[in-house]
Amino acid sequence: MKLYKIKVLLCTCLYILFAACATNSQENTVQSPNGEIILTTGVSQDKPFYEIKRGKEIIIKHSNLGFRLKDGDFSHNFRLKKIEHRSCDEVWQEPWGQEEKVRNQYNELTMQLEEQSGLHRQLYIVFRVFNDGVGFRYIFPQQEAMKDFVIMDELTEYALPWDAQAWSIPTNGTKYFEALYKSSPVSQKDTVSTPVTIMANDSLYLVLHEANLTDYAGLNLTPEHQNKATLQSALTPWSTGEKVFASTPFSSPWRTIIIGRKPSDLILSRLMLNLNDPSRIEDTSWITPGRYIGIWWGMHMGKYTWGQGPKHGATTENTMRYIDFAAKHGFNGVLVEGWNWGWDGDWTTHGDQFSFTRSFPDFDLGKVASYACSKGVELIGHHETGGAARNYEAQLDSAYTLYHDVGVHIVKTGYVNPLLDNKEQHNSQYGVRHYRKVIETAARYHIMIDNHEPSMPTGLQRTYPNLMTQEGVRGQEYDAWSPDGGNPPEHTCIIPFTRGIAGPVDFTPGTFNFTNPVHPGTRVQTTVAKQLALYVVLFSPLQMASDMIENYENRPEFSFITSCPTNWAKTVVPDAEIGKYVVVARKDRKSENWFLGCITNEEARHMQVSLDFLDKNSIYEATLYCDGVNADYQTNPYPVTISREKVNSDTILNLQLAKGGGAAIRIEKR
Ligand code: NOJ
Repeated sequence: MKLYKIKVLLCTCLYILFAACATNSQENTVQSPNGEIILTTGVSQDKPFYEIKRGKEIIIKHSNLGFRLKDGDFSHNFRLKKIEHRSCDEVWQEPWGQEEKVRNQYNELTMQLEEQSGLHRQLYIVFRVFNDGVGFRYIFPQQEAMKDFVIMDELTEYALPWDAQAWSIPTNGTKYFEALYKSSPVSQKDTVSTPVTIMANDSLYLVLHEANLTDYAGLNLTPEHQNKATLQSALTPWSTGEKVFASTPFSSPWRTIIIGRKPSDLILSRLMLNLNDPSRIEDTSWITPGRYIGIWWGMHMGKYTWGQGPKHGATTENTMRYIDFAAKHGFNGVLVEGWNWGWDGDWTTHGDQFSFTRSFPDFDLGKVASYACSKGVELIGHHETGGAARNYEAQLDSAYTLYHDVGVHIVKTGYVNPLLDNKEQHNSQYGVRHYRKVIETAARYHIMIDNHEPSMPTGLQRTYPNLMTQEGVRGQEYDAWSPDGGNPPEHTCIIPFTRGIAGPVDFTPGTFNFTNPVHPGTRVQTTVAKQLALYVVLFSPLQMASDMIENYENRPEFSFITSCPTNWAKTVVPDAEIGKYVVVARKDRKSENWFLGCITNEEARHMQVSLDFLDKNSIYEATLYCDGVNADYQTNPYPVTISREKVNSDTILNLQLAKGGGAAIRIEKR
């Protein structure tokens, strides 16, 4: 792939270099461009540290930095050799996203450290301070004294000044990050996966995570034994216990601390993307966001099977029926799961049996793909690996050649097995390397990826915009069969502030029929209006309408899904409280229209939503899809009232949300 010349619309990268020979006692600061956030770093008693303030308010207390390497400690015995400062202010364009242009504005400080005795090895730490938070990374420069090395532990600390409430999912015992985010004081956490979202007080919210996870192990955090409000890094290990195998020159991912005054600030932060590298794909014209349906929910309902037999879902005939429906209702794609050899029997433990080039006899890939093409619809391919990463890697080229040749440009990948290749964790360096290989290979074949059971997203879609969306979340499928009854209503009021900060979420909303005959104790725990609102609240450039197509017949509210874009010029968050309610409005990239989603947890709520984000002096017509009379997610989830009214930028909408309900609104400029 050619290296991409990034389209920078306005780039005033100011390189202000102050090189200074520093003494060990010296502390050094760097401020955010607006002066509010102040980072101090230096070496104290031969150990590198950092601390962060917002004005006078301490956000991160004195926290240690460094590593434990296989051949010994690499966190003390340092002296500060040099400090460099640099600033950047640029605007870059997203091929797809929550807005068209992103401002990347920060002040940077690089601290060059050297061991005072012994091998005199060097370590650099780069800090970038933005108006919405801080990112820092370790750089191991090329040096004679350090070539290949092994990280046993990263020792980055986050010493929080308070034992605040935080939303997180446990690392141990959670498969594929598919758990319900729970709020509890930091000190009471076990090891948790990032993103971790912290409410320090009513004007201070933080998200701890990482950006640009490349050839490294995924980050988890664990409370320190003595001071339990201090979180320590706990990288995901290899099966042999090491965390990272590396050679100089080498950079760690960025450690990210998003800092906001309101929950909505967290959703609007683009710090994660700004800390990833510009796109490596030069021509992105083939990368197209859109809506899709699929032969999918029927499997979860027990109507179809992935494997062969009388209920096989992915037949030529059934797929053509789905293609007809997609063409009629303006969907871009049809996902087909269970089309290839390998599904018969227990595929979760026999992933190495999957063939990604051989179709089942009742599925004619060429015929179906060309039928889709004739209808202006794309087939979305599917590669479930059962976690057999090596088997998949061996077939990557042939599988993508086949899909490319029949005109399939989107592939959903999957890794259902607690371990990759029966050995390594999804979020380990092994997993991270595998997923990267898939994304890079797919890009060469002009294939977009929707990755399920991933390593946790870290904003990599900036560098590889063919990485469209990922799971790594407890998605809608849990409403079909989860033994605990399904996703509670608060779940989707938490995701935008937690997993959603990491990147696009393939949650797959849009179920219109809430019960499952196979699992009668499990159901969708929302109203239908809330299902609609999720298309705006949860960002994904590929959005699925998850239900079986027959369940959309004669449902006027389906028109919200078929009109809702998946690619946006602008995003605003008029109101939000984590776990309680969220209001998100987004402007379409292709028109002057806005779409608004408003959701609540298990409480009914009256919301007043100002439309002051609309253009002044313009008239719009709003179509409102609201919870109908007596709607209630438990007792009466189906009623939806559709109404129209003229609105403008002075309008304040009064929305009555049912328990577990929502409202979805299309606002068209007249
Ligand atoms: C789990 C995925 O999340 C789901 O979407 C998919 O249908 C199954 N694996 C089979 O690949």
